[in-house]
Amino acid sequence: MTQPDQKILDEVTRLRAELDDANHRYYVLDDPSLTDADYDRRLRRLQEIETAHPALVTPDSPTQRIGAPPDAGFPEIEHVVPMLSLDNAFSEEELAAFVTRVAERLEVEGDELTFCCEPKLDGVAVSLVYEAGVLISGATRGDGRTGEGITSNLRTLRSIPLRLRGEAHPELLEVRGEVIMSHAGFEALNARARDQDDKVFANPRNAAAGSLRQLDPRVTATRPLEFSAYQVARLKPDQGDATHSALMAHLGDFGFRTSSELAVVKGPAGVIDFCRQLGEKRDGLGYDIDGVVIKVDDLRLQRELGFVARAPRWAIAFKFPAQEQTTRLNDVEFQVGRTGAITPVARLEPVSVAGVTVSNATLHNADEIHRLGVMIGDTVAIRRAGDVIPQVVRVMGELRPSDAREIVFPERCPVCDAEIERLEGEVAARCSGGLYCPAQRKEALKHFASRRALDIDGLGEKLIEALVERDWVTTPADLFRLQAERLVELPRMGQKSSENLVAALSKARSTTLARFIYALGIREVGEATAANLARHFGTLEALMSAERADLEAVEEVGPIVAAHVHTFFCQPHNRETIDDLIACGLHWEEAAVVERPQPLLGQTWVLTGTLESMTRDQGKARLQALGAKVSGSVSKKTAGLVAGEAAGSKLEKAMQLGVPVLDEAAFLDRLAAWETGESDVEERGVTERDAKENSDPEDER
Ligand code: IVH
Repeated sequence: MTQPDQKILDEVTRLRAELDDANHRYYVLDDPSLTDADYDRRLRRLQEIETAHPALVTPDSPTQRIGAPPDAGFPEIEHVVPMLSLDNAFSEEELAAFVTRVAERLEVEGDELTFCCEPKLDGVAVSLVYEAGVLISGATRGDGRTGEGITSNLRTLRSIPLRLRGEAHPELLEVRGEVIMSHAGFEALNARARDQDDKVFANPRNAAAGSLRQLDPRVTATRPLEFSAYQVARLKPDQGDATHSALMAHLGDFGFRTSSELAVVKGPAGVIDFCRQLGEKRDGLGYDIDGVVIKVDDLRLQRELGFVARAPRWAIAFKFPAQEQTTRLNDVEFQVGRTGAITPVARLEPVSVAGVTVSNATLHNADEIHRLGVMIGDTVAIRRAGDVIPQVVRVMGELRPSDAREIVFPERCPVCDAEIERLEGEVAARCSGGLYCPAQRKEALKHFASRRALDIDGLGEKLIEALVERDWVTTPADLFRLQAERLVELPRMGQKSSENLVAALSKARSTTLARFIYALGIREVGEATAANLARHFGTLEALMSAERADLEAVEEVGPIVAAHVHTFFCQPHNRETIDDLIACGLHWEEAAVVERPQPLLGQTWVLTGTLESMTRDQGKARLQALGAKVSGSVSKKTAGLVAGEAAGSKLEKAMQLGVPVLDEAAFLDRLAAWETGESDVEERGVTERDAKENSDPEDER
């Protein structure tokens, strides 16, 4: 063993300070300063040095500690059985070495050993205590011996049973597992936070930790958290399970979620195979995992192997490549989305993140750039997970070069040069180019042809894409110039379908003013508003020459919608498009009013939570088109509440007041019936399943 020189001593001091600081930021402040990869690299280096020079190990070295002391504000809860950590393996060789180590200690052949493999969930570890089948406390890991008592917060998680299922309850059960947030839940939470100028979380684990640390459990209740069990710490009396996998199945019977990926495998080959397969599936799981936990399945052998220092000898964590990396922000470009929203896109020095090369990441909007405080030339932390678009999560401010440049948001659309508008109270900046902007064209054409706009039969998404890609259609007017002889050249278009499309276009030329206004795709102008505008102005000319104040006089048109309409008609290219359409033969009877069923007239509806099949605004527009008023808060007078994923206090209130609640599936059913005029208007209200899932957890006691 060599004596450490001054260089090594300095390195140890620096690594410890950096790791301590990172730990504090990560565990106490929920505001990480290092990427996981950077943290792991430093910790590994420190471990290496300490292994080579054991005299340097001190009790307060970051290698010696499990977590951070509990926060004030929550009661301390002592873990009767300490919450330990796991040793890591970073390669298949290290995995095989683990199996060999275990086999040698047990004096058996490695190939004969069975292991239970599970995803290593990347969330917050918690421990739950049940006495006589009833949840009595829940705590975080804290420093492994004492955690924070967050029972009230944990009780808000639907995946945590308040009472164990089944008849025979053990006297005592302590279950451990991970609280996680799915990618979808995380995206929805952050989207909401960005809209409301709230705190945005860097990753699902921080979002889960922050949500569990809320002093008000009602806030926790609105967060999309899930609990998945992976360990039994105490069980009295013993239920006779001989293996870890049997215990997990038993937990399933008690009402816990355990990993659906769990598998029992044999020998080193089985273990390595599982790790490879889960690595391939990682991106599609919908939640973050940072590796695989491999446990000796036989509980008797687990006891025989026992523990060393702070980790069991019978388990190991195989770590996957980190989902966060640092790289340089080379430039920022601005993309035009479907609704004209301008999204700043980070052009990065290509970097491999969890097995995929990332060279672009979203910066969302101008507010996000401001929040991150990012400049071109900065070193930034990038995160990618599953199908989620890579994100810039942090700036390494201390690494900023002296020639870093400010990011300047454009004033004109980079695609069509139209003015970019940012309305008060709105996060997104948008291109005002509308139908004229090529980036928005495909979506605009889809909307133009849709059933409730010009209703062009047979002009679907695929066909529109083919037409735009070939540049056959640049404006909606070009549609009316299409000829059957040319259409047959398109994939899947025969003589007959080409002729049918031309006939459908011909038929669509005769429409109503309201449909025409709606078809233009002016922001926030849904069917109901379009009908009001048509009724109010009577002619297109009158509408096009209206001032903002005139527009605000229209029923249900406020300053925001008025501004959208005004801006739209002020753009010369939009006027050209309209003239062209009329030249192509589009016509309507002046002042024709759309007569559509309005079964919800006089009713007030509320939407809450995240809908999968549409945005809340789209849901709102469809309710309004049916005559409903849509409000932001639930009262006794509310006719119904549409509750999407992660619905919170509004759902609670609706349940209290007995307001009918529709989940998304029921809402879609209803909409279809109302819109086709086939409904009997009577509400279906809550189904039995809805009622159970939505009930206050207290009720289950
Ligand atoms: S078993 C004796 N199983 O990893 C420790 N842990 O580094 C037994 N974790 O604190 C832990 N998924 O937060 C186990 N399927 C899993 C896990 C898992 C995630 C976390 C847990 C633990 C940490 C250990």
